[in-house]
Amino acid sequence: MPEDEAQAFARRFDLATLERAFLDDPFPYYHALRRFAPLKRLPDGSVFLSRYADVAVCYRDARMSSDKKAEFGPKFGIGTPLYRHHTTSLVFNDPPLHTRVRKLLAAAFTPRALANLQPRVETVVDGLLAQHADKGRMDLVEDFAFRLPVEVICDMLGVPPGERAPFRRYSLAILGALEPVASPQRQEVGNAAVGEFSAYLDGLVAERRKRPADDRDVLGTLIHGEVDGERLSHEELVQNCIFLLNAGHETTTNLIGNTVDALLRFPDASSATAACRPTSRSAARDWRRVPTSISASVRPTAIPRSSPSPTASMPAASPTATSPSARVCICAWARCWRAWKARSRSAA
Ligand code: HEM
Repeated sequence: MPEDEAQAFARRFDLATLERAFLDDPFPYYHALRRFAPLKRLPDGSVFLSRYADVAVCYRDARMSSDKKAEFGPKFGIGTPLYRHHTTSLVFNDPPLHTRVRKLLAAAFTPRALANLQPRVETVVDGLLAQHADKGRMDLVEDFAFRLPVEVICDMLGVPPGERAPFRRYSLAILGALEPVASPQRQEVGNAAVGEFSAYLDGLVAERRKRPADDRDVLGTLIHGEVDGERLSHEELVQNCIFLLNAGHETTTNLIGNTVDALLRFPDASSATAACRPTSRSAARDWRRVPTSISASVRPTAIPRSSPSPTASMPAASPTATSPSARVCICAWARCWRAWKARSRSAA
């Protein structure tokens, strides 16, 4: 991108009005931001970070919060299904709720627990490929990338195979409402999906509660597990099951799609990946980072504007800023860049 164009883009960049060209290929634009406005103050008062070092500092600063009640109240309406869901899931919470759910979930994601899942994942992969082997072609996303995580996560939650069909629709509707700008129609669809999904999980949980308490798959662990003598409330349980499916589903689907797309478009990277074995942990980690399915995250912060900011050169509030508290938008891609560069250099 020519220098004057890059400068102009960095001046006008606003997350609330993303341009088509940015959505199609954000990387030249991230580069422009890192170069000309690495700590970009947006019109609503938040700061968009795009440099690895700044992102790393913010992620480690305990004054950055994950609690989104102040943002989601006006966005979804307090008490709406979307508000209740997104403010109860562990990813948008600080301690103590975050710590309690995370400790309960940790048991399901130990290296040993994940290794135990491997044969089942391989069976699902083989089965999906076999369904299309005769035709010699398949739609990667429809026929494979979205089915694989749904099957695996539904297994973890004990959802019977015949009841999994609506889950992708729920997931798209609930996560779609998280876009920086969510139209009333998008919110309506999202609210309906949380309602339907919660009602389904009410029934599933009621069934599971009848089983012995030592029957501990992920759902069993969440139902019966205790942290410091406390269990999850029914609402916490249901909302975090919805979160688990959404967190692991859309992300993995997009990751598989983006990775194959990138391997086809960059044959050099493809041979570098092949050279370090695509099944190896490092290759899998790189491809999770580079064409990432989550390109930004947001951290509200209670740091008063008069305090020293976590990143040395955080810009002062704009006089027209409408938001009373600071908000930091973190370009997740930035945190991956350094690791990717290092690996591609060593693979080359
Ligand atoms: C491969 C695709 C995935 C990507 C790119 C991805 C990305 C992320 C990111 C960026 C976060 C941090 C969000 C933030 O704090 O702002 C996160 C959190 C989380 N993800 Fe994933 N994720 C993926 C797959 C999964 C899967 C398969 C599961 C489980 C089934 C999962 C469960 C979680 C949980 C439980 C958290 C919250 C952790 C915490 O706050 O302590 N993710 N993920």
